[in-house]
Amino acid sequence: MKIAFVGKGGSGKTTLSSLFIRHLAAARVPVLAVDADINQHLGPALGLGEEEAAALPAMGGHLPLIKDWLRGTNPRITSAETMIKTTPPGEGSRLLSLTGDNPVFAACARTVPLDDGEARLMVTGPFTEADLGVACYHSKTGAVELCLNHLVDGREEYVVVDMTAGSDSFASGMFTRFDLTFLVAEPTRKGVAVHRQYREYARDFGVALRVVGNKVQSPDDLAFLREETGDDLIAAFGHSDWVRSMEKGRPPRFGQLEEANREVLRTLHEAADARYGRRDRHRYTRQMVHFHLRNAASWGNARTGTDLAAQVDPDFVLDERNASPQPA
Ligand SMILES: Nc1ncnc2c1ncn2[C@@H]1O[C@H](COP(=O)(O)OP(=O)(O)OP(=O)(O)O)[C@@H](O)[C@H]1O
Ligand SMILES: [Mg+2]
Repeated sequence: MKIAFVGKGGSGKTTLSSLFIRHLAAARVPVLAVDADINQHLGPALGLGEEEAAALPAMGGHLPLIKDWLRGTNPRITSAETMIKTTPPGEGSRLLSLTGDNPVFAACARTVPLDDGEARLMVTGPFTEADLGVACYHSKTGAVELCLNHLVDGREEYVVVDMTAGSDSFASGMFTRFDLTFLVAEPTRKGVAVHRQYREYARDFGVALRVVGNKVQSPDDLAFLREETGDDLIAAFGHSDWVRSMEKGRPPRFGQLEEANREVLRTLHEAADARYGRRDRHRYTRQMVHFHLRNAASWGNARTGTDLAAQVDPDFVLDERNASPQPA
C-alpha cells in the first residue's frame, strides 16, 4: 500500500508520517519509509541522530544504478540515459518488492530500528541551494517516482512517503502514485487552503484523499476543519506532549504516545487497508503512461534526443499478483 503525507509547510507531514511508520512497525508489517520532501527531516523524526541522518545514502546520487537495475532487459528502454523519472516499466523491467533484497535497496535503503520493530528508510537526499529550480533537483524526487512506478506492494506491505504538496508533484504525476494520500491540515485558513487545491487535482485523477487534522486543540478547531474539509476529514491529531519531548531530544517510547493520538493512527491504518480491494491496476498503469507521455512531450524527448513514447509497453500492467521474481 502506497501512502503519502502531504500538506502545507509546517503542518506536521513529517511528524505524522514518522508516527504512522512507527505504528506500522509496531504492528510488525513491512514498512518502507521514503523522505521525498525538500527538507529532509524524516530520519531524525524516526530517531536518527544528526550524523546518522546525514550519512544516509541519497537516492538522487544513485540514479544511474537505479535506472540500470529497473530497466533490466526491457527492450523498449535502450539505455539508462534515456530513462526519465516517468519512464514506465514494461516486459523485461525489474520490479521492486517490499520484502525482497535488491541492488536498489542495498544502495539506497537503510534499516532504522524503532522501539517496536523496524522500518527501511530511503531519502531523496538533501537539497542544496544550487539544486533548487534546476534539473538536478527534479532528478532527486524523480528517483522516488521511478521507484514507486516499479514497486509491487501487496496487502499489508506499506510504503509511506513524506512529501511536499507543491506543484512539482502535480506536474510529474507523483500525486497519482498512491493508494491513499493523507493531507495534514492545521485548523487555520492556510492549512485548509492546500486541501482545496489538492482536492481539485485529486478529483480529476480519481486520487483517494483524506484530511488528517493536526494540532487540533478544541471542539472549535475540529468544527472548523469539519466545515472546511467536509467528509474528507477522517481524524484529528491533537497537540502532543510526546511529540514535544521528541523535539527536545528526549524521545519517549512509542508505547507512551497519547491514547487519543494512537487511535488516530489506527484509523489511518484502517483507511489505508480499506483501499486494497479498490485498487485499479489498469488505471494506475494508464496514469503512469499518461504522465510519461506528457513529460516526454514537454521536455523529455528534447532532453534525451529520443522519442520517449516508444518506451511505453501497451500490454504491461503493474500488478503484484502476477509479478514474477526477477533475477538480480
Ligand atoms: N501534534 C503535534 N503536537 C505537537 N507538536 C507538533 C505536532 N505536529 C507537529 N508538531 C511540531 O510542529 C513542527 C512542524 O512539524 P513537521 O516538521 O512535522 O511539519 P512538516 O509539515 O513536515 O514541515 P515541513 O514543511 O517543514 O517539512 C515541528 O516542530 C513538530 O514537532
Ligand atoms: Mg517535513
